[in-house]
Amino acid sequence: MTKIDLTKAAYFFDGLIENKLPDEVIAVINSLVIAENHYSSATREITTKLENLNDEFKHVKDRNPIHQIKARVKTPKSIIRKLSQRGFELSVESARKNLTDIAGVRVICSYIDDIYLIADLLTSQDDIEVIHRSDYIKNPKPNGYRSLHLIVTVPVFLSENTELVKVEVQIRTIAMDFWASLEHELSYKLTEGKTESVTKELKDCADIISDIDLKMQNLYNVTIPPKNTDKK
Ligand code: GTP
Ligand code: MG
Repeated sequence: MTKIDLTKAAYFFDGLIENKLPDEVIAVINSLVIAENHYSSATREITTKLENLNDEFKHVKDRNPIHQIKARVKTPKSIIRKLSQRGFELSVESARKNLTDIAGVRVICSYIDDIYLIADLLTSQDDIEVIHRSDYIKNPKPNGYRSLHLIVTVPVFLSENTELVKVEVQIRTIAMDFWASLEHELSYKLTEGKTESVTKELKDCADIISDIDLKMQNLYNVTIPPKNTDKK
């Protein structure tokens, strides 16, 4: 596979010098575009599994544990940027090996217990292998970020072979997603001087939101009794 040196890749980001990309850069970009297809297939596989679980719950228990599913595949541009920033070789093999979030699926659940329910049901499926699990709900990040992260592989059946493709699955409540979305936007816009106070305010908001999630879970537990799964 074509490898290129990192200084040449800078052309890709810093404007086109002489309006021309080096051939090696074009070759890497082309192979990333081809690989993108496998990653989209992998997000579809995971999304379908999650939709099937949600549908089954709707029929059997008359409720949806999943509120929303979002899927995305990293663009070749951001793959190249992340590889460069981390000092990795620029090639499709390197991206496959070193980046675990080329394919990403975000699952927004109604309640905290639904997060663990969905994670267990997904990861117990025969063709899913868990590579890594980070529980930022039991152990929130210092800034207050909460979510359950799984890196899994899922088989993608191609015309000539089967590939095990890595997918990053982030599972969180509506409330955690609300915080993470706004924090992401605000952190980008942070100016020096404001950093400390804004970081503290954001952390306070995360803790308040976490209390609300716990209250909602308790309300659910006392309001909706467990339902018999046998439909008679
Ligand atoms: P990335 O290089 O950002 O992917 O981080 P990582 O490989 O160390 O993994 P980590 O589990 O920390 O984060 C993976 C992803 O989780 C990020 O790309 C974000 O989508 C999300 N995430 C992690 N930390 C935060 C955070 O503090 N705020 C927000 N808004 N999102 C976060
Ligand atoms: Mg990421």
